[in-house]
Amino acid sequence: MLAEYIRHFRLPAPKWVKQMGYGREIISLEARYRRCIEAWAPHLTATRDLITKSATECPATDHAVVLGSGALLDIPLEDLAGRFKRLDLIDIVHPASARRAAAQFENVHLIAADISGVAPAVYAQAVTAEPIGDRPQPPKGMRDASCEIITTAIDRSLAKGDRLGALRAPNPDPAMINGADFVVSANLLAQLPLLLLDWLQAHRPFANDATRDAFARSIIDHHLALLQNHPGKVVLVTEVLRLVLNDDTPGEKIDPLFGAPMMLDGNEWWWDVAPPGEINRHLSMRLRVLGIPDLAQAPQLRSCRNTTLAAP
Ligand SMILES: C[S@@+](CC[C@H](N)C(=O)[O-])C[C@H]1O[C@@H](n2cnc3c(N)ncnc32)[C@H](O)[C@@H]1O
Repeated sequence: MLAEYIRHFRLPAPKWVKQMGYGREIISLEARYRRCIEAWAPHLTATRDLITKSATECPATDHAVVLGSGALLDIPLEDLAGRFKRLDLIDIVHPASARRAAAQFENVHLIAADISGVAPAVYAQAVTAEPIGDRPQPPKGMRDASCEIITTAIDRSLAKGDRLGALRAPNPDPAMINGADFVVSANLLAQLPLLLLDWLQAHRPFANDATRDAFARSIIDHHLALLQNHPGKVVLVTEVLRLVLNDDTPGEKIDPLFGAPMMLDGNEWWWDVAPPGEINRHLSMRLRVLGIPDLAQAPQLRSCRNTTLAAP
């Protein structure tokens, strides 16, 4: 616990990113990985193999981008760095392990960026929830850099004629992947809304579950649109179902994509993300993962993948 606290303290990330919990998440992901190394191995191998195979079959080799590179657990870094002239690893926070691994390759670049296209605006809701006059005040103890982000987000929102405090639609920046021959979205899609929803719940709760889910769904849809509009080759690896088990008996089924239809075929496997003992003695959790090696060429599913009801 203390080690995790120190890791978080040392993590080079802007304060707003840490305040929203991204630093805490990546550090606990690494800690969970160390605890569940055997249970996670098949999933990590399946993801890495799918990416490597797809990269090998990609004819152009100038530029590759990984979205959601995180701790690089599921990324075949050496293969990609060896194949492409330039490799960009994009995540909102890069842990020390990823920084060390990337530093071994001259052509690998770490880019810290928000992939959802809405995180700074969501962060700004913390202050717009309690406006002072017609201008919100930053929370106590916030540094200048964080204030700047808030001011910019509010200015943009006002320039567009939005009501102060209105949530704008996600707007992921296509420049992140412009010109890339090969793009990987690596177990990221279902994660994109989660911390944003937590932050909003704490600072500006939604009127009801339907508006909350619609906002989460819009984040998912915009990421999918970003990938689908990209002319280069795109690999998508994402969870499509969360299954909670009670003493090995399947129980609650959760749709991690908030109803976004995933009508494409690909490889599928289970990720035992929380094997027995990780949550408690009785509960465990498995994720159904879909890996699509080439999004533009993926065949349509013959029947609808009902992510909440059709758990095998
Ligand atoms: C489940 S992890 C993916 C695993 C990662 N590929 C690895 O091997 O460690 C999800 C990743 O998405 C990143 N992420 C979540 N929301 C993000 C956002 N808005 N912008 C950029 N990265 C984000 C997290 O920081 C985390 O590294």
